[in-house]
Amino acid sequence: MLRNKDILDEKNKLLRKKSEEVTFPMSKEDLDTIDKMIEYLKNSQIEELAEKYNLRPGMGMAAIQLGIPKRYFTVVYEIEKGKFDTYIIINPKITSTSSEKIYVEDGEGCLSVNRETEGIVPRFARITVEAYDIYGNKIKLRVREDLAIAFQHEIDHLNGILFTDHIDPKNPFKDHDKYRAI
Ligand code: NI
Repeated sequence: MLRNKDILDEKNKLLRKKSEEVTFPMSKEDLDTIDKMIEYLKNSQIEELAEKYNLRPGMGMAAIQLGIPKRYFTVVYEIEKGKFDTYIIINPKITSTSSEKIYVEDGEGCLSVNRETEGIVPRFARITVEAYDIYGNKIKLRVREDLAIAFQHEIDHLNGILFTDHIDPKNPFKDHDKYRAI
């Protein structure tokens, strides 16, 4: 089972590495890692379990956050209390984006960023993503709103980018009126 200490902190240079494409069939190790990531993210969003195992709540995790420089991530999205949708996204490419941009009003968070941050991270409100499932089949998804933000945040990780990179430290709320808060 994954614990907080298994997740790399932003100070770790590995998080700045551009991850490599996954080749199929996937290794048993990577498939196990995916299961562990999903278990962590789900548990972290269930209050009793998060408390019991001392997990920081998160909805997304990229392999590089565990020190694995491969292009895959998982998102566990609570659609209603106790009910989760799980996404396993491998070798993703964003193939189209909305013109509208949004941002998380309370600020984005990341399991690798263990400090208070403030500021606006503009993200596309809707994106289309082409990727692969664990068997190597091509998949195409259209995601919107907070799920679209999670996907863009995780795809950034695959390219060595952290959400804090998008914030201007001198003016963290710059251009807030150009985007819609969610
Ligand atoms: Ni993150």
